Amino acid sequence: MRTQVGIIGAGPAGLLLSHLLHLRGISSVVLEKRSRDYVERRVRAGVLEQGTVDTLTEAGVGERMRREGLPHHGIELRYGGAGHRIPFEKLVPGRSITVYGQQEVVKDLIAARLAAGGDVRFEVEDVAVHGLTSAPYLTFGDERLDCEVIAGCDGFHGVSRPSIPEGVLSVFEREYPFAWLGILAKVAPSSEELIYTRTERGFALHSMRSPKVSRFYLQVPADAREEDWPDERIWAELKARLESVPGFTLATGEIMEKGVTPMRAFVVEPMQYGRLYLAGDAAHIVPPTGAKGLNLAVADVRVLTEALAAYFEDGSTALLDGYSEACLKRVWRAQHFSWWMTTLLHTFEDDDPYARRLQLSYLDYVTSSEAAATTLAENYVGLP
Ligand code: FAD
Ligand code: DHB
Repeated sequence: MRTQVGIIGAGPAGLLLSHLLHLRGISSVVLEKRSRDYVERRVRAGVLEQGTVDTLTEAGVGERMRREGLPHHGIELRYGGAGHRIPFEKLVPGRSITVYGQQEVVKDLIAARLAAGGDVRFEVEDVAVHGLTSAPYLTFGDERLDCEVIAGCDGFHGVSRPSIPEGVLSVFEREYPFAWLGILAKVAPSSEELIYTRTERGFALHSMRSPKVSRFYLQVPADAREEDWPDERIWAELKARLESVPGFTLATGEIMEKGVTPMRAFVVEPMQYGRLYLAGDAAHIVPPTGAKGLNLAVADVRVLTEALAAYFEDGSTALLDGYSEACLKRVWRAQHFSWWMTTLLHTFEDDDPYARRLQLSYLDYVTSSEAAATTLAENYVGLP
């Protein structure tokens, strides 16, 4: 079997790449180890930057997002007994975010690929990468897929990054001493906009998926297990952290999904080796506080598509050669923003009273200075 681009992973990066390549007349095969049902149900990100929304819309896969996605023009920072709105419409006119679940993006992309006769294979076992510096091919089960280029879109725990020989990649990483417990609940959101809250008990985030479904995250210890967090404990803790301003009551409901996510930052440089190009979480991870991971994956794929189009259309390798460098500028900006939002809003056990005062002072600055608030807003909605 032969294709132009062999893609490992049917997350947002792999599926979008396959779709964009198809629009440019370039063939691909997507190999995914999980089932279609599994990837369509995996609850993860929810905040789409303006640039992500534009990319999906221009690629013809934004129709349901436009109907069901929730446009947001601000967020609330809540701390010290008060809420403070960061108004995007004033600070970054014309730019906003859309709340639309990652699994909905995945569903829309799978539907588009299958409708166009695309080759997306689920439950594929033992994918392995070969011939990266000569004639690349992938093996899986007892099959072989020859390709001209391989795209490693298989997330942080995939096989593509570890198949690069030792010594080629530089790794930059940081582990945070806490995790996020995320839940999806059958209850109308208690707020129209997202609330990022800092309390002495830790961080909490009120997000949503629809007028009837809310999404919440709690800062929990790094070794927290789902079993430690029965539903009543989750609601009690969310109330303790979010009901910190007068008149705000958190509505509760049935918890449909629960999961603990470790908080880490990770980047490899370069994001390519021979004929293998890494995109999305396979190359970099950010702590989720800035809502950047999915958006970075989409940005990588945009750059990779242009580079592959130049290669397959006129044999030019200049953009492919510069792929990693072109992506890493955005990647590091997002790393810094995600670190900054995480540091601003979480409680760190090692922090002494001095460090806590600094954190509160910075929050006061961000919520009172237009210049500081604009820094947050322009990074949050996504830099061009
Ligand atoms: P993935 O979505 O991880 O997809 C990789 C795919 O490869 C998977 O389907 C996997 O099954 C498959 N795979 C892995 N190994 C193999 C193999 N050996 N063979 C074949 N297939 C394989 N980002 C945001 O932008 N905004 C947010 O609001 C946000 N919130 C988040 C909240 C949480 C709780 C979490 C966990 C993440 C959040 N993120 C957010 C990050 C975002 O979900 C990821 O950055 C995004 O999923 C990256 O997409 P990807 O396609 O690169 O990787
Ligand atoms: C969501 C996730 C995030 O990481 C974030 O910063 C905002 C919202 C969400 O899943 O809704």
